[in-house]
Amino acid sequence: MSTQDTIDSVRKEFRADSKILIKDPDQHETLKIKFLGRKGLISNLFSQLGNIKPIDRPKYGNDLNNLKNEILSFFNENKKISKTSSSKSLDYSLPGRKFRIGLQHPLQKTLNEIKDIFKNLGFSIAYGPEIDDDFHNFSALNFPPEHPARDMQDTFFIEDDIVLRTHTSNVQVHLMEDKEPPLRYIVPGRVYRNESISFKSYCLFHQIEGLYVDKNVSFSDHKAILEFFVKQMFGPKTKMRFRPSYFPFTEPSAEVDIWSDKSSQWLEILGSGMVDPEVFKSVDIDENIWSGFAFGLGVERICMLKYDIDDIRLLYQGDIRFLEQFK
Ligand code: PHE
Repeated sequence: MSTQDTIDSVRKEFRADSKILIKDPDQHETLKIKFLGRKGLISNLFSQLGNIKPIDRPKYGNDLNNLKNEILSFFNENKKISKTSSSKSLDYSLPGRKFRIGLQHPLQKTLNEIKDIFKNLGFSIAYGPEIDDDFHNFSALNFPPEHPARDMQDTFFIEDDIVLRTHTSNVQVHLMEDKEPPLRYIVPGRVYRNESISFKSYCLFHQIEGLYVDKNVSFSDHKAILEFFVKQMFGPKTKMRFRPSYFPFTEPSAEVDIWSDKSSQWLEILGSGMVDPEVFKSVDIDENIWSGFAFGLGVERICMLKYDIDDIRLLYQGDIRFLEQFK
């Protein structure tokens, strides 16, 4: 093969390849390296210059330079094409990508609705510790040591004296220790119980505690506030009842049920009652001057009733298919 053939064969190859490049501008870099790269075909032809007979060298060099210039100017020219064609590949008429806006979890929604109702009634919001001592979770609330009443709540113990709070009532004690009455607070938060997990119970859930302490607070004040809440939350026609109950820290105590048409039964949504004078004593509030009521709402229960959810575990699984229904 003569050297001329070699220059010609590279030229032929280049002209064939350049047709590919016009169809497919993405090949620009690859082909440029193939011909003009440090180990490319052109530089290979230059390195053969030494093997050419001196008499043929000027022509060979001249031909080779011509080929190189042809290729160079092609790539320069083609750079423009490849740039314009890649900007042409943007189709401005395509519909835009959808923004996926987050949504509120049904529990958060329920919490917010409950908070709003009580804020309108003049309650402030307070928070308290989820890990607390026996005194705040039990003793100050009139659960005597070793008393079976503690069995009402399956407690997670961290140490002998330290528990994951089993209810938000621990914050009643903190509030009454820290502040002077009158008090009008709600306390949203998580609580923990060592219960077996099923469609109706989970090892953690949410409560909203309410505490109202003032002079001359009566049981009917407590009824009126809770009735107002239920009608606001579930609608004015909701059927509800106060059922006598027992909690160590309220006397008398009640539970509130609301009627579920769907399941044709009463469902409990909260516990409540008048603050027991024993509790006032343990936080040094004069029970002869002050009286009050407290309540604890089950947020999951209320949420499930309101949004017709029949398995509490759905609220904790983060399943998009479930959550998207609450847009
Ligand atoms: N803490 C009680 C419970 O978890 C509910 C409650 C709160 C009852 C306040 C009376 C007063 O069951």
